[in-house]
Amino acid sequence: MKPALAVASECVPLVKTGGLADVTGALPGAMAGNGWALRTLLPGYRPVMAVAANAGAQPVLDLPGLAAGDARVLALRYAGLDLLVLNAPHLYDRDGSPYLDAGGNDWSDNDLRFAALAQTAARIAGGALEGWVPHLLHLHDWQAALVPEYLAAEGTRVPVVLTIHNIAFHGLTAPDRIGALGLDPARFIPDGYEYYGHVSALKAGLQGADRITTVSPTYARELTTPEFGMGLDGVIRARAGVLTGILNGIDTRVWNPRKDPHVRRYQTPRGKAANRKRLRAEFGLPAAPGPLAVVISRLTTQKGLDLLLDALPAFTAAGGQLALLGSGDRALENAWLQAARDSDAVAVRIGYDETLAHRMFAGGDAVLVPSRFEPCGLTQLYALRYGAVPVVARTGGLADTVIHANDAALRAGTATGLVHAPDDAEALATALTDLCLLHAQSERWSLIQANGMKHPVGWEVSSAQYAALYDAMMVS
Ligand code: ADP
Ligand code: GLC
Repeated sequence: MKPALAVASECVPLVKTGGLADVTGALPGAMAGNGWALRTLLPGYRPVMAVAANAGAQPVLDLPGLAAGDARVLALRYAGLDLLVLNAPHLYDRDGSPYLDAGGNDWSDNDLRFAALAQTAARIAGGALEGWVPHLLHLHDWQAALVPEYLAAEGTRVPVVLTIHNIAFHGLTAPDRIGALGLDPARFIPDGYEYYGHVSALKAGLQGADRITTVSPTYARELTTPEFGMGLDGVIRARAGVLTGILNGIDTRVWNPRKDPHVRRYQTPRGKAANRKRLRAEFGLPAAPGPLAVVISRLTTQKGLDLLLDALPAFTAAGGQLALLGSGDRALENAWLQAARDSDAVAVRIGYDETLAHRMFAGGDAVLVPSRFEPCGLTQLYALRYGAVPVVARTGGLADTVIHANDAALRAGTATGLVHAPDDAEALATALTDLCLLHAQSERWSLIQANGMKHPVGWEVSSAQYAALYDAMMVS
């Protein structure tokens, strides 16, 4: 097995705010089948340190004076993962989320918190750990993207791949922080990490990585355009030759309606009935003949859930019901709570609840993902696996994972869901009324559900693509 170091700010089952954690939690297991042994370096947030303490983590590296404090790296095995945890209480031992304080604002020292993570990864790549040196580094998003800067500063040469999960987040900070972050001031140039007068961690990674991936082929193309590149499309275009899109998979052991401990287990779509009944009761929705659609999402502009608010009246008028679980923007949270007060067919839970999410995939007839942009998206994949019909915007990974139920696909027996134009409330409303019509045609509906449940959503294909990429990087 070839050793590689993954560097990420979240990882299931230790810490999760979104799909990044699902990916970093599942990919190591899949890569093991392809000859690569991934170790994952994570920040020692409070919940991570609690796990480390219980799992008998061992100190493997002391880092005195890291980011103006004392830190150490602990090693542990947990839930099938080989983990390195950066224990730096001055950076991570706090209440709140990985990125935000209790008031919902970015931690003011986020630049330092993740620069420390990147510095640690660079030291490990340089041989700081006794008896273990990675052959390759796999960096995830801006939180890990300063690594190439620190590698260059230390003169360490090791192949680096950077995966973009979401280019909306750049990891920007002010130039007066260059010294505190231990960056080389000479690299504060357009060809380095300078971005319109700021330090951009993501730009540093995009410039310095040997290869860049993102989480779907369509998003890889979209990223090169001003519409989706979020100000970094020029940098991406300059590096298009090393950019590829590799679709995310899901952990089919955790997400398996046959074995899921959180649901009434089932093998075929018929088995969803008991879950649907329970879900309606849980959300206080009345029994109804129409489809019960669900949304499990961060509430941000990205996810297009304001468009869904506009399309709701058409959906409920056609007999649909909606249960939403999410949290995020206060204004959107309030608008959704208001929508639930306005309609008996709409129910809302504000919050984050992993086990409720499982029950919603099992009980929902459809899962709605009307995103304005979506690098990959995982909830439509969970939907397929659980026999819930995905209704998705034609963008990013959503376009790559759902086969629209047009006449040709229905005749060929390949349809798995409904796909509509993005950023368009009217197109979404039409898709939702189409959903109600399809739901009433029980034979077609069952076929779509069955197709979805058969659709390959695991990591088999994509992990082999990552392995091929890793292997190619070793020889070039
Ligand atoms: P993103 O990473 O952009 O949020 P993804 O679709 O890739 O979008 O991943 C989102 C992940 O987070 C999924 O596993 C989804 O089930 C989960 N999730 C999102 N919001 C919630 C919530 N409020 N409660 C429970 N799980 C959630
Ligand atoms: C990001 C994206 C999402 C993707 C996830 C995992 O959070 O918004 O589309 O599925 O990362 O790659």
